[in-house]
Formats: sequence, structure tokens, C-alpha cells
Amino acid sequence: MSFDHKIADISLHEAGRHQIRLAEHEMPGLMALREEYGESQPLAGARIAGSLHMTVQTAVLIETLTALGAEVRWASCNIFSTQDEAAAAVVVGTGTPEDPQGVPVFAWKNETLEEYWWTASQIFAWPGVDEDPTKGANIILDDGGDATMLVHKGVEFEAAGAVPSAGEEDPEEYRIVLETLRKSLGENPQRWTGVAQNLLGVTEETTTGVNRLYQLAREDSLLFPAINVNDSVTKSKFDNKYGIRHSLPDGIMRATDVLIGGKVAVVCGYGDVGKGAAEALRGQGARVIITEIDPIIALQAAMDGYQVATLDEVIDQGDIFITTTGGKDIISAADMQKMKNKAIVGNVGHFDNEIDIAGLAAIPGVEKIEIKPQVHEWVFPDSKGKSIIVLSEGRLLNLGNATGHPSFVMSASFANQVIAQIEIFAKSHKTHAGEDVYQNAVYTLPKVLDEKVARLHLPALGVKLTELSKDQADYLGLDVAGPYKPEHYRY
Ligand code: NAI
Repeated sequence: MSFDHKIADISLHEAGRHQIRLAEHEMPGLMALREEYGESQPLAGARIAGSLHMTVQTAVLIETLTALGAEVRWASCNIFSTQDEAAAAVVVGTGTPEDPQGVPVFAWKNETLEEYWWTASQIFAWPGVDEDPTKGANIILDDGGDATMLVHKGVEFEAAGAVPSAGEEDPEEYRIVLETLRKSLGENPQRWTGVAQNLLGVTEETTTGVNRLYQLAREDSLLFPAINVNDSVTKSKFDNKYGIRHSLPDGIMRATDVLIGGKVAVVCGYGDVGKGAAEALRGQGARVIITEIDPIIALQAAMDGYQVATLDEVIDQGDIFITTTGGKDIISAADMQKMKNKAIVGNVGHFDNEIDIAGLAAIPGVEKIEIKPQVHEWVFPDSKGKSIIVLSEGRLLNLGNATGHPSFVMSASFANQVIAQIEIFAKSHKTHAGEDVYQNAVYTLPKVLDEKVARLHLPALGVKLTELSKDQADYLGLDVAGPYKPEHYRY
């Protein structure tokens, strides 16, 4: 079997396979789903266009999807996050480097933005799709919403008959998206319309992508059903929090080797990711200061024992600054000039617009020195050599400077993804009629499935769950088998 793919180095496949094998042991949720659904093949006929960090853990996800019958094409959702050995192992599959039998992957560490958007379009370039759109992807598995955005923009511009020019204010990356689509419309003026018609839905991994989906739904322009995987409790309350608690200090340490203990760390945003970040930094002995815009969350941070301040107040005190907001323009170029010498600046929110790297680069006379890939010292002019250290150019540092969240927590996230893919494939309104089907709206998974994902992870940790008696269940108004909490419960 030969198939198109583009990765850094296929000879890394053995190293990748060893890591995947160990990751499988740490991903009991995904392995249990393989066991449960391997025979019934609920994803037979599914053609999944995946856009999610091409790591070792994602390799286990991809191979779970194929074990359940799906065909898959994959790209990473970040230019720095691919683990090249994992990509190689997924391409080779059960074959050899000369005769790969795995999955077409289009991802490598250190893509340019042009390359990134090319890889994003490749996950929709299924053989024969231009002649017959029904040969294309029928589900998206997205992280951050770039793949979903590409389809929506493509359809919008095809309907208008042209791709607009970028405005003065538009970021450089948007120009590249427009360029990618202009080229695509030149090749086939109805490509994205065909792609969208064939899509049964999308399952979205992260807060930022989910926000984008709700915006599309509010504008009534969502082109297919969507499942919000992020807001499964077993996703956002675990991956966002405990995942970052592991991978944030991992990234800072691999990048800088700076002792975190005793330092002042400023964490912007105290949502799920911010909570994990703050706990990790405090655990290492840092004095952590939080910035927040939400009074409830600011109060929460204060009750958890953190100082809550504005960035302005503490800009010259912090040794480490981490953004976790999912918002934009959190740390400006002027802020960075006010920081202490050798302050470390990094972001773990989904996009790189939390820290104004373009503004930093535009300071006249500023010098950028590469310490090593994804670690840059920026030396300010006329400042007696004062500099700051920026990690991963303002992109997700836990994936750029380290290898992202560990397997166990990703097993919970990805078990939700697999269940959501099965749901969409089985019950999209595009192929099924009836009450119990997904419309062009955003859904979360039913709580009973969320509880199932948690259950799948308990034995590996030696957790012994107490069982409700029938009598106790009746008293609480519950079913013995769950769900145990109402929808509005906040955990
Ligand atoms: P969240 O909504 O729970 O938390 C974000 C917090 O930032 C909110 O409490 C909000 O009030 C606060 N905030 C917004 N603007 C602010 C500002 N200007 N200053 C201070 N605080 C501000 O979202 P969550 O789940 O914590 O995700 C945050 C970001 O991290 C998202 O972009 C998400 O996609 C991303 N993410 C990254 C992961 C990683 O591996 N690096 C893993 C999971 C999520």
C-alpha cells in the first residue's frame, strides 16, 4: 500500500513505536475502548480528518480510531508540537519504512506557517475527493478549530466567488490562510463546498476551539454538528488542569533549567489551565501571583491562597510570566520592556496572540538570540544588556519546549474524543433522521458517558469505588448505575 504523507524522518519509527507501546500501558481508557469496540467496528466507513498535536499520545488515539474501523488523515494543530518519532511510527504502522501500512500524517516539528496551512489542507485531500466529494473526510477531529475554520472560510469564499484581500489589521497568519484558500479556489472553485457537504460533524478538543464553535452556532453559520469534548468533566477538569500541572514545569525546566523555587511567578488567567499552572509553580516553591478579569475566579484564586494583582502592578517583580487565558494581547511589548533582567515569558493558552511577539520584534534595535530551538533571548537596546527569555515564540510552551501532557491524562481526553466520534458518526442529522440525532449545533457528551470515561481509568490507579445501595439511590433520587450528578453540578 502506498499513500501520500509528509513527515520529518521515517527512520525514527522504531523509537516512536517503543514510546507508543509504553504510552498504551498508561492509556487504559483508549485500550479499553479498543477492547469494547474492536469487534463491532463502529467507525467502519468513517474517514476522519484529524488536526491535533502529533504526539506519542495522539498516536495511540489515531491507532484506536483505526482499530475501530476508521480511515484517518492527520496533521498537527501547532507548528512546534509534533514528536517526529511518533509521526514516523504512525505512518509506518504494521509495515516498514519502504512499505508503510499506517496512516497518512502531514506533520513535523518546526513547520513554517505556510507549511502548517498546507498540512491543514492535506487532511481534506483524500484521494479522488475533487472528482467525487463523497470520497472525502466525513468527520473532523479538531483541536483549536483551525481545520473547522478552514472549511468554513473556504465555503464562505467559494459562495462569494473570491477570496478577499487581508486588511491592514489582520495578523500575518490570516494572510497565509487567505493565500492557501486562494490557491485552493484556483484549483477547484467548489472544493470546500463539497468537503463541507460530506462532513457529518466535528469533535473539538479545546477551550479555544469550542469558543469558536459556539460563535459559529450563535451566528447560525455552523455547517455541521459539533461535539464539545473540552467540556466533558473528564477532559477540562483533568487535562487542562492536571495535564498542565505536569507539562508546564516540564517545558520551563527543559527550556531554561532555571530553579523555580523561590522565584516570583505570574500566571495570567486562573481557569482550568491557570489552576494547574499555579499549583505546579507553587509546588516547585515559587511565590505565585494571579491576574484575572472574572470576579468569581479572582475570589477563588484568593481563597486558594494566591496574591491576585494586575499585571501592571507586578510587571517588574515576576521572574516567570505564564499566560493561560485563551484571550489576546495579555502581555504587550511595553510590558516585556518593564520586566526584570532574564525574566522568562511563556504561553500555554491555545494561540500565540496572548504575548505580543510581533511588537517585541518591532522594537527598534532589539536583538533576538537563539539559545536553542524554541528558546530565545531578546536583548533590549540601550538597557545595559537587559534581556528576557521567550519560550516557543509565544506558542504553547508545554508542547514546544516539552512533549505536552502525559499519557494517562490524555487517555481520559482522548477516550472522550473516541466516544464523541462514534456518536457523531452514528447520529448526525445528515445521515440519520429522528429525535436522538445531532443537528448543526454544539453538544456535550451525556454525563453517563463522562462517568464511563472516569470509570475506565480507576482500576489502573487502584481506586475502589463505593457502590450505592438501591435504598440509598432511591433516597437521593438516583439510578444505582448513574449519572450521579445533575447537569448543573460544577465539580
Ligand atoms: P478557562 O476559560 O477555564 O480559563 C481562562 C481564564 O482566563 C478565565 O478564568 C478568564 O476569566 C481568564 N482571562 C481572560 N482574559 C483575561 C485577561 N485579559 N487577563 C487575565 N485573565 C483573563 O479556559 P482554560 O480551559 O483554562 O483554557 C485556557 C486556554 O488554554 C485556552 O486557549 C485553551 O484552549 C488552552 N489549553 C491549553 C492546553 C495546553 O496543553 N497548553 C490544554 C488545555 C487548554
